[in-house]
Amino acid sequence: MSPDRAQGGVAIYPGSFDPVTNGHLDLITRGAKIFDRLVVAVAQNIDKAPLFSVNERVEMLEAVTFDMRNVEVDVFEGLLMDYARAKGAQAVLRGIRAVSDYEYELQMAMMNRKIEPEIETVFMLPAEAYSFLSSRLVRELALLGGLERLRELVPPVVEQHLRAKVG
Ligand code: PNS
Repeated sequence: MSPDRAQGGVAIYPGSFDPVTNGHLDLITRGAKIFDRLVVAVAQNIDKAPLFSVNERVEMLEAVTFDMRNVEVDVFEGLLMDYARAKGAQAVLRGIRAVSDYEYELQMAMMNRKIEPEIETVFMLPAEAYSFLSSRLVRELALLGGLERLRELVPPVVEQHLRAKVG
């Protein structure tokens, strides 16, 4: 890799974001400081039936990143590495919360490296306060009547969307 490509550049932060949490936002903020451009890419073809449509997920992400000048929100389908290559990205950003994330992330990173060896997976740690937080638990909390307890876990706009969806 040439030295100029080793600094900054474009990174893709892919995920389901169903919905975006404060943990995701923490990682986006950290990633935006390191990369010149960070593309938050919402996966369209996820196995699980999402609570929020792609448009809703994008809308929430755009709302929470509107003041981040080097962050954009996009949608992708198909292989992440095909998308990353088409975007001219040098890196894929993923968050690791606990050891339990590691095995899945390792498998995915190795498979992605096999598909596209030129694009690195970069792992970052969210703030400790979010090390237990996941979209799945947020959805569960909202669906089981715990909307009031979401305040420090998701941005206000997401809380509003959850309220509208399950309230
Ligand atoms: O937020 P998630 O659900 O952990 O995100 C997972 C995601 C969307 C990043 C991952 O499933 C993905 O990259 N899907 C696209 C298909 C792909 O390229 N899979 C990995 C190589 S086989």
